[in-house]
Amino acid sequence: MVLSICPDLFDAAARDEKPRKSRSAKAELGQFFTPPGIAAFMASAFPQPTGPVALLDAGAGEGALTEAFVKRWSDHVPISARLYELDERVLPVLEERAKSLTKGHVSVWVECEDFLEAAAMMLMLSRGDRFTHAILNPPYRKIGTASRARGLISSAGLETVNLYTGFVGLALELLRPGGQLVAIIPRSFCNGPYYRPFRRFITARAALCSIHLFGSRRDAFAGDEVLQENVIIRLERGGAQGDVLISTSTNAGFEDLDSRVWKFDEIIVPGDDELFIHVPTTENAPLAEEQAVTTSLADLGLQVSTGPVVDFRLRRHLRGMPENGTVPLIYPQHLKGPWVVWPVEGGKKPNAIARNRETERWLFPTGWYAAVRRFSSKEERRRVVATVIDPRLLDGDALGLENHINVFHSKRRPLSPELAAGLTLYLNTSAVDAAFRRFNGHTQVNATDLRQLSYPTRIELEEIGRQGGVHWPTDQQEVDKLVAGVITSAS
Ligand SMILES: C[S@@+](CC[C@H](N)C(=O)[O-])C[C@H]1O[C@@H](n2cnc3c(N)ncnc32)[C@H](O)[C@@H]1O
Repeated sequence: MVLSICPDLFDAAARDEKPRKSRSAKAELGQFFTPPGIAAFMASAFPQPTGPVALLDAGAGEGALTEAFVKRWSDHVPISARLYELDERVLPVLEERAKSLTKGHVSVWVECEDFLEAAAMMLMLSRGDRFTHAILNPPYRKIGTASRARGLISSAGLETVNLYTGFVGLALELLRPGGQLVAIIPRSFCNGPYYRPFRRFITARAALCSIHLFGSRRDAFAGDEVLQENVIIRLERGGAQGDVLISTSTNAGFEDLDSRVWKFDEIIVPGDDELFIHVPTTENAPLAEEQAVTTSLADLGLQVSTGPVVDFRLRRHLRGMPENGTVPLIYPQHLKGPWVVWPVEGGKKPNAIARNRETERWLFPTGWYAAVRRFSSKEERRRVVATVIDPRLLDGDALGLENHINVFHSKRRPLSPELAAGLTLYLNTSAVDAAFRRFNGHTQVNATDLRQLSYPTRIELEEIGRQGGVHWPTDQQEVDKLVAGVITSAS
């Protein structure tokens, strides 16, 4: 099952086109339906309903989620379910399932309608059903600023960049006070600037009651092509925010289900304007040295930025190898180890950029920096991979930093050698990796993510750098030991 490549039927319909061809016929048909085990788990994530249920299933596919809900709760309460599905190709199966579920005090209604359109209309006119429960595996697809989907979602007061957050936002808005929503969605909404309005929208309207984290999206939907990690969240409309239940399993069978209750402060850190949602687990619980580290990057007087050289905009100034009038240009290819390697002969990317009036404003003065690649590969053990930029390994007195790297600097000026080395070592620890994974489920490392991390004090960072300068640790254990040694001896 692939959540990520469901056809964007709405946008296609709005443009009067066929749904965009996806990677396979299966993808094109949108047959990425929730397996029964996960659907049953989602149905059980609701607290026991205490009165008649008005259920919403938006983007219902073949109705797996409603079926699981009915199986789980129809012995307890009457259920009236409303299912929205736009794809006519799945409708016959959905109608059939609705018919077979409709009996006794269960009634299931299928609406072959665009959910976004229907929801926006209901909300605008303050008409139509309001629901006590919503269960969702919504379509996943980026939506453009000018798209009709974006307009419909923003009519409900939510600015968002993906259909899935739009579906969850609108479904939440359609719930009655105390209404419960359970959704399986990618984890990408937990961090990053694009989903901040969504985080604000849900936290302003609902209590975050539980999060289930799958080991990986691949495991959750074994056999299909899947890209990111999934979470199952439960929200309670207008609920008082209390502790949050976090559970994990490495697969859809839930054999190794593990759960623990966490204080809300550990999920969204008080005072965090970005509202990053951390997903701590017993496995990635804060390490001792993480807890001892509390300084923010701003407290250190440092900044982290995305490399300012966007290569396709400056293409005519790029050079394969350094020559007269050029300065080094640092790409991720130069950051493969703990120290910058430059130039890389025979690499795919240029090594230099001409220094002239047009490029000058994009250059940094040569000096010591810590740099982090913005994209790591799934195979890499750590998500945050840092490298020291050592000016002794470079030419010239200016430096181009390409857009696929993040760089730590002091108001665009270099750091001291100890600070650059100390930051690099600290960023390469298991503790940072664990902290990072609690709020970021994908392999992209943004400058905002790095601003969210806590850091040791400047004195500690410089000491780490000094010790690294005497003997640079060669493996993960040594890096962790060196950094923990400095931090714990200081605290
Ligand atoms: C990821 S699939 C999940 C299906 C089902 N909920 C399940 O869990 O098996 C999402 C479904 O949303 C439907 N869909 C996409 N855009 C829609 C829209 N604007 N309105 C209603 N349904 C839509 C797709 O056709 C697809 O069946």
